[in-house]
Amino acid sequence: MPSTVPELSMLSFVPDEMPDPAPYHLLTSIVAPRPIAWVSTISAEGIPNLAPYSFYNAVAGFPPTILFSVSYRRKEPKEKDTLRNVKEIDEFVCHVVDETMSESMIQTAIDFPHEVSEFETANLKAVPSVDVRPFRIAEAPVAMECKVTQIVPVEGATNVMVLGRVLRFHIREDLYRKDLGLVDTMQMKPITRLGGPIEYTKIGELFALKIPTV
Ligand SMILES: Cc1cc2nc3c(=O)[nH]c(=O)nc-3n(C[C@H](O)[C@H](O)[C@H](O)COP(=O)(O)O)c2cc1C
Repeated sequence: MPSTVPELSMLSFVPDEMPDPAPYHLLTSIVAPRPIAWVSTISAEGIPNLAPYSFYNAVAGFPPTILFSVSYRRKEPKEKDTLRNVKEIDEFVCHVVDETMSESMIQTAIDFPHEVSEFETANLKAVPSVDVRPFRIAEAPVAMECKVTQIVPVEGATNVMVLGRVLRFHIREDLYRKDLGLVDTMQMKPITRLGGPIEYTKIGELFALKIPTV
């Protein structure tokens, strides 16, 4: 039976025919809102590093595994410090950025030289982790200590995916819902990234949805 739904007026775009970096901007405004991994790493010489990554998600539950994707600096093919560090010391700590921490987070996206620690430039307190060498941000509501399990180049792209297994969760006590074993995500107030260089969102309205049984 033919559909009675009126046809939508659509535009269509082919990435190969778009000027650089238009496909990136279009994609990131579609795959949104994106959570932000605030990633702490450490170099072989012991210099700490912090940087935000919104090409980020959970990719396995057992064992808990997360992924973030680092692009090469496009103007000069130089590795970002985060990637360089995880190749040297295969560990990282991934933090949640809450509403109170957005200004500090954005300071850590500045392209400082390798020798500079963003803990210092952003005035954040570094506390030792338990199972990994990179430091944890004391002020962050949640931190996950991770061991790098894979470093996978994205075919044809200037990105490299870093996968890490969570060895330890740190959860601010008031955010833990003991009865359910969950974090109270609404109270955690994470910020998430939209498209373009400056657009972010706060968490919206909560509603429930259950998968129907057959
Ligand atoms: C909210 C936010 C999200 C970002 N997400 C990414 C990302 O997913 N991948 C990436 O390569 N760079 C991303 N960046 C840019 C890096 O944070 C930036 O290049 C930073 O200087 C890298 O630092 P590093 O060289 O110390 O690793 C993002 C920046 C911001 C502000």
